[in-house]
Amino acid sequence: VESKLWGGRFTGGLDPLMTKYNESIYYDRAFYAQDIRGSIAYARANTNTGILTKDEFAVIEKGLLEILKEWENDTFEIIPGADEDIHTANERRLGEIIGKDIAGKLHTGRSRNDQVATDMRLWLRDELRDLEKHLIELLKVTGSRAEAEVEHVMPGYTHLQRAQPVRWSHWMMSYGLSFSTDLERLREVIKRVNRSPLGCGALAGNPFQIDRVAIAEELGFEGLLYNSLSAVADRDFVVETMQWAAMLMQHLSRWSEDLIVYSTAEFGFVKLSDAYSTGSSLMPQKKNCDSLELIRGKTGRIFGQMTGLMMTIKGLPSTYNKDLQESVEPMFDCIKTVSDSIQIATGVLSTLTIYPEKMLAALSPDMLATDLAEYLVRKGVPFRSAHHISGRVVALAEDEKKPMDELSLQQIQSVDERFGDDVTGCFDYQRSVELKNSKGGTSISAVKEQIQILLQVIG
Ligand code: ARG
Repeated sequence: VESKLWGGRFTGGLDPLMTKYNESIYYDRAFYAQDIRGSIAYARANTNTGILTKDEFAVIEKGLLEILKEWENDTFEIIPGADEDIHTANERRLGEIIGKDIAGKLHTGRSRNDQVATDMRLWLRDELRDLEKHLIELLKVTGSRAEAEVEHVMPGYTHLQRAQPVRWSHWMMSYGLSFSTDLERLREVIKRVNRSPLGCGALAGNPFQIDRVAIAEELGFEGLLYNSLSAVADRDFVVETMQWAAMLMQHLSRWSEDLIVYSTAEFGFVKLSDAYSTGSSLMPQKKNCDSLELIRGKTGRIFGQMTGLMMTIKGLPSTYNKDLQESVEPMFDCIKTVSDSIQIATGVLSTLTIYPEKMLAALSPDMLATDLAEYLVRKGVPFRSAHHISGRVVALAEDEKKPMDELSLQQIQSVDERFGDDVTGCFDYQRSVELKNSKGGTSISAVKEQIQILLQVIG
């Protein structure tokens, strides 16, 4: 029992299953570097308050750096049953290397409560910065494809029914701009993750006038958490990350769903590269979009982590409770899942083959019925009547069993004499999309403006 950090008042041993149930070392060992950097910053601050002498600090720092090497070289030996978590393990090892007298001073005024929150925030901040880079890659691929392929027109859908022609690039940019909003949100989240809880102690604060600002600066935090009770209780930074991730995955999932549909033989607009497809063990002809299906599937898992953690936290009394340890594993999984998903999506998009002739073939003249109504609007007909008249042209084409653009001028004029001989100009998909040149529309200039906006967000 002596080996336990809190051995002083405990006499009985732990149930062996309880030991395992309680320990987090097998996953929170991922924080080894953050834990050591945090300890060095903390020891330096305690040197300035006189808790440690300069010599003691030097010994502690050297010992901690030695432990860092052991983790990096994979020679750190975890003692099963004794090393409950990364904080316990590092402190135990420090005692072995530099002796317990000096090592025992390191934790003065500190608790694992402010320590674990510090480790998690440092780890998450760095991971989110990596995610930011991956997300920017996805944005860049989206923007450059949208630029290069801007001439192609395809059906735009509502209710998955053909609605109006749009540019293929306009479709890409519809997600591109959602992803760029995700990027803006991510940068906000990082700011709030990157605040320091260190120096808050177990819950009440530090009694030795420790300079929390200096610690925060050394660790690259952008600010402090200003209430010690909430600093140790807070896992909002993980919840917010998961909420952010859930929104991003929701976008990626719908994007995937669209591409899965567009890659079916029935649509045939796109084909995934071999690098992101798999075959069937039974049907030789099959090529499946497993990459996109996994993105869509993993989205459910992220939503689950988000709601799961919110449930874990919602009824906790003030400050630290061991329940909070349950935020660590889902945080790891969430970051890995989102990071992988963004990179897979980038790979899918950058290697995707498109079939513009299939997109074109999927367009049908009835998708220009709105253009026909708008033709009349330009001649002064109120839109409601124009809509009705155009509907009658659609019905006439149906009766005649012809596509609308094959009706004769006389037939069209039989519906309404305000149709002039220039009406046939309406039956042109490129004209239709180019007319949508207000901001946010599907004309070339409007789509290119969207690409500029995306690039501005990247910065
Ligand atoms: N492994 C713990 C966690 O992840 C560290 C904090 C333990 N603190 C405590 N008072 N038992 O939350």
